[in-house]
Amino acid sequence: MRPAPSLPLPDEDQLATSRRLSEVIAEAIRAAGGWIGFDAFMARALYEPGLGYYSGGSRKFGEAGDFVTAPLISPLFGRCVAAQLAQWFGQGAPEAVYEFGAGTGALAATVLEALAEAGHGRVRYRIVELSGELRARQRETLAASAPAMLGRVEWLDALPERIEGVVLGNELLDAMPVRLFGLAGGQVVERGVVLAPDSAAGAPAGPGMPDDPATGRVEAPRFAFADRPADSGFERAVRAALDEAGWAAQGGWPGGYRSELGEQAAAWIASVGARLARGAVLLIDYGFPRAEYYHPQRAQGTLMCHYRHRSHDDPLWLPGLQDLTAHVDFSAMDAAARAARLDSLGYASQASFLFGCGLPELAMRVSPEDAGAWARQAAALQKLVSEAEMGELFKAIAWGRGLPDEAIGFARGDRRGAL
Ligand SMILES: C[S@@+](CC[C@H](N)C(=O)[O-])C[C@H]1O[C@@H](n2cnc3c(N)ncnc32)[C@H](O)[C@@H]1O
Repeated sequence: MRPAPSLPLPDEDQLATSRRLSEVIAEAIRAAGGWIGFDAFMARALYEPGLGYYSGGSRKFGEAGDFVTAPLISPLFGRCVAAQLAQWFGQGAPEAVYEFGAGTGALAATVLEALAEAGHGRVRYRIVELSGELRARQRETLAASAPAMLGRVEWLDALPERIEGVVLGNELLDAMPVRLFGLAGGQVVERGVVLAPDSAAGAPAGPGMPDDPATGRVEAPRFAFADRPADSGFERAVRAALDEAGWAAQGGWPGGYRSELGEQAAAWIASVGARLARGAVLLIDYGFPRAEYYHPQRAQGTLMCHYRHRSHDDPLWLPGLQDLTAHVDFSAMDAAARAARLDSLGYASQASFLFGCGLPELAMRVSPEDAGAWARQAAALQKLVSEAEMGELFKAIAWGRGLPDEAIGFARGDRRGAL
């Protein structure tokens, strides 16, 4: 599906940025001999310095952006996370937080304040953030909503060599580049990206929205998907994932199936695991255990695009202007953590995790007599915990080193058995 012409139009500056990024990607495709893996395309579309979706200037989060995440829905989310962190600090985890991909800084502000209230006012908060624009926004948020905490925060460019404390990531893994595969006639193919035949500057636009709505002409390189036989390592990894998902027992592979493999997310967990000397890793994201992720009925995978609160499924459209994301295969993440000798601390739905961390008690702090605040909080709670919204699709997962297996967030509804 090409995004419908009814999508809100990008402005001239945004189109110009996307054209520049498209030229960079086109050059990478030419340099690679005409084809790049989708993971390479996604890495540039999201993280190309100064131009990518996350590394450039687009608005991204909140009502004026493309999507809303849990820390922006309600501070209750951050207070629950802080309750889990406080328990781990009480059990001997070093009092430091490493938040990866901190968005607007809303989670950092709430967590720091709630930790201070719980007697952990000396915690160090380190944000690992790839985007300069987001760092500035995080600093603004902290200065406006938790100014006393700003001095406790520092920003890091990369994964530290040694981590002592709690690693935290909300909707982090889903933003890591994925490789795409397809099944054709019993063979595994890798979906990659090539220059589309209509890619020459000035060519007439194809169906859907033109790159330049004013002239209706294409002024940037256009991209298309192209499959090629998977290399042996990728083919082995795909076959292993599908076998573990139980496909052999279901009598083989249906043709036309497409999905993704989150190798970079698994590699990130492996490197965090190798660096974590003492403490825990807590990640919250949307996804499933492997058997559900690669269910034969999920035949088109989980790759999605978000643009101004609308979802569509053309990841090659206007690079840099839309979010690209894939769900998380939590079984693969758990396998990577265990291979790094981390201890499992739990896996549960977001709803169950938040309840375990004391959501009902925290919600009672708003008085029912304040009708406006009560109604706003009830609406936020509905989004965070309802099965039809984030409560079931989103999961919390945690591993630790040197901590007891007693995390409050997983005390009920622990589903490690499903991984
Ligand atoms: C969907 S956003 C979520 C932002 C925020 N955590 C929230 O919940 O609003 C994903 C974020 O992860 C960041 N990210 C992706 N890979 C990363 C990595 N390897 N290290 C640090 N941040 C990363 C992106 O730059 C982006 O800011």
